[in-house]
Amino acid sequence: MKNIVIASFQSRTDLLEKAEKMIADHWPDFMMGTSVNENYWDRLYASPFSHYQFLAILKENDQEEVVGVINAVALPWQHNSFDALPDNGWDCVFELGMQADEKQLPCQLISALSVTVDSRYRGQGIPQRLINALKTYAKDQGYLGVVVPVRPTLKHLYPLHSFEEYCQWKNDNNEPFDPWIRTHWRLGATMIKIAPQSMKIEAPKETWEQWTSLRFPMSGDYAIPMGLAPVSIDIQHQSGTYLEPNLWMFHDIN
Ligand SMILES: CC(C)(COP(=O)(O)OP(=O)(O)OC[C@H]1O[C@@H](n2cnc3c(N)ncnc32)[C@H](O)[C@@H]1OP(=O)(O)O)[C@@H](O)C(=O)NCCC(=O)NCCS
Repeated sequence: MKNIVIASFQSRTDLLEKAEKMIADHWPDFMMGTSVNENYWDRLYASPFSHYQFLAILKENDQEEVVGVINAVALPWQHNSFDALPDNGWDCVFELGMQADEKQLPCQLISALSVTVDSRYRGQGIPQRLINALKTYAKDQGYLGVVVPVRPTLKHLYPLHSFEEYCQWKNDNNEPFDPWIRTHWRLGATMIKIAPQSMKIEAPKETWEQWTSLRFPMSGDYAIPMGLAPVSIDIQHQSGTYLEPNLWMFHDIN
């Protein structure tokens, strides 16, 4: 049994470089290209955010490796219903969390932003431990709950089916078909609604060609590797726009 411990980033700031490298190695290049990401990502590792970024640390032969990370923000939430969660999910909660910190606003809700597990250590329940660490933190600190703009991990293999339909698919055991939706569901999360424009990525056509190793000879929509939606290429402006849908899910912590 591998010796994997979960710790908040606040207590292990020395692991920043390892955590960032692990994340960069396991996400498609284009996912790092949102403007929100570029503006704010580094701030997640400074206080107060560092308290609710959690790391899964593998300890072996006096060496430590970061094998999992959950990133999250806290944001103000005055609504009675989670139906008010934003259509531009990931981008919006990231921005709201950063603005709340700048304006010193009280926050009532935590939103996860991403979970990343080193591909060599998948299927061992590391996401469950990271999500539970975040939920325990949220409960201890008196938050209302934890929401997640879930990025279904296998949707990219079904580009011809609508995101809404895909999220409702079931496996033979009548559980959610998508493994990542299933992980959240098994941990007690409920599906709230679709965030149709959760993540907006705009970049020059040339950058999209570098990110995807594809060529885009004419204007139009193109399926891209690991994309949950097509990238829309505009030849006249030499640009490409990608609007990724996510699924809002809610983890009750009471
Ligand atoms: C999503 C991610 C964190 C899941 O990690 P994990 O360790 O596989 O997660 P779990 O142990 O909870 O496994 C979840 C389910 O996925 C299944 N699974 C794992 N890898 C899989 C793969 N490559 N293909 C299909 N299913 C897979 C597991 O069997 C499990 O399903 P089951 O318990 O019903 O059998 C990991 O794949 C990852 O880091 N991906 C890249 C980043 C990402 O997409 N994050 C999610 C969006 S924020």
